[in-house]
Amino acid sequence: MTIFAANWKLHHAPDEARQFAARFLELVPPRSDRTVAFFPTALSVEAAAMGFAGRPDITIGAQDVYWEASGAFTGATSPVLAAAAGAGAALIGHSERRHVFGESDSDVRRKVTAVFAAGLTPFLCVGETLEQREADTTEQVVVGQLEAACQGLDSEQVIRLVVCYEPVWAIGTGRNATPEDAAAVHTVLRRILGSRGGPSVPVLYGGSVNQGNVAALLARPEVNGVLVGGASLDPAKWAELIRVGEAGLVGS
Ligand code: PGA
Repeated sequence: MTIFAANWKLHHAPDEARQFAARFLELVPPRSDRTVAFFPTALSVEAAAMGFAGRPDITIGAQDVYWEASGAFTGATSPVLAAAAGAGAALIGHSERRHVFGESDSDVRRKVTAVFAAGLTPFLCVGETLEQREADTTEQVVVGQLEAACQGLDSEQVIRLVVCYEPVWAIGTGRNATPEDAAAVHTVLRRILGSRGGPSVPVLYGGSVNQGNVAALLARPEVNGVLVGGASLDPAKWAELIRVGEAGLVGS
């Protein structure tokens, strides 16, 4: 199963999400061998869930959630409320959450646990900064992030994870990792996942993925999908990226 995930970040109000869905559904027919996931802003989760309703190949997710289900936590959203709004997944530990909002590995771990408790699929993001890559600590950083997030999870939970490798230096910069760079890190992540009972967990690559590089990334067997920001914001361009990506899938 190949996963094409769209991270809309702070874009697309509810009416724009509805219009996007209407256009996208005209352009992209269902397939049983791939999933398309959309991560709209929390305010647009319900609109997106309704807009894409009736398409089992499409999942909606929250971009972040707090670990408590409800209570006196002004400004927060929870996995339980995201599920009630129609979400089936949640991005956890995106680098913008870690680096702009100061999320720690322990926050990420609590969020992953809460996401599982609400019955959602965590899309767990890990990735190194440019400084860490240049200091040759990429493997240590991503393994540390993955191990911290998996602490306390049993293998039944680990097999339900989706892991996203997103080098921070490649996000929104136009500088994507080469397919070889991505594959090397995915292999390391898969080894850890395997040791925790999840050898088949999908590992996606994210960071400046576009129509021009998606096929080469997905041609690597280590890359099970892509997490895309900027190139997912326009329905026609996102549909084209998926078409190009799907063209390389086995059975196309
Ligand atoms: P980008 O963002 O595709 O715009 O680089 C990816 C992400 O942050 O998930």
